[in-house]
Amino acid sequence: MPERGYPIILEASILSADFAQLGEDARRAEVGGADVIQVDVMDGVFVPVITFGPGVVKALRQWVNLPLDVHLMIVEPERHLEAFAAAGADRLIVHQEACLHLHRVLQMIHELGVEAGITINPATPLAVLEDVLDLTDLVQIMTVNPGWGGQTLIESQLDKIHRLRTLIERRGLRIPIAVDGGVDRTTAPRLVEAGASVLISGSSLYNDRATVAENVTLLRESCHDVTWRG
Ligand code: DX5
Repeated sequence: MPERGYPIILEASILSADFAQLGEDARRAEVGGADVIQVDVMDGVFVPVITFGPGVVKALRQWVNLPLDVHLMIVEPERHLEAFAAAGADRLIVHQEACLHLHRVLQMIHELGVEAGITINPATPLAVLEDVLDLTDLVQIMTVNPGWGGQTLIESQLDKIHRLRTLIERRGLRIPIAVDGGVDRTTAPRLVEAGASVLISGSSLYNDRATVAENVTLLRESCHDVTWRG
């Protein structure tokens, strides 16, 4: 199966946005050329921090026309899938580590009519994905330990990304790989060369909220002409 490229997709994570102006900040990313907004949902149990619920997704739906990608850093995500889908989520991304019955959770997401993504933490091996790739619309590799923005990329995940892309290509599947955590204009080209095509970035876009549009452009330009090294 010849390798078929994926378009580079930029997702603005609102974790580093101004929580008092999430609509405006999401729109800044949209105007600046981001392709997707990622909403980092945290329950204070799966990760120590608490952030947003379905109400924020519903509110953001009124501010941007971009797809809303909901990253569920919560335990028992199956309890909340319907509420986030009803709020306007276009894709629900669950942690494999939080799902007792991952195959069933992915089926539930598809039954709600939205895309299903799986994400795994840095310590979690790719093997947990092997028997559910056929139900997966996107795999998100955590390149930091979840819970906070502004962390440094964990270098060991580059090899994991390459192994995952190789597995997907060998199976003849078409599943984009997203990377989340420490993604900026320096790390992005290396992540794309390793096999990622969906770049999720928060602090590199929002640390200076006055230049969100420029930051989006700089991040996209950092990957110009960069492809998977195979
Ligand atoms: C971690 C979050 C972050 C966020 C992006 O739980 O998922 O990775 O989306 O953070 P930055 O881009 O600031 O590293």
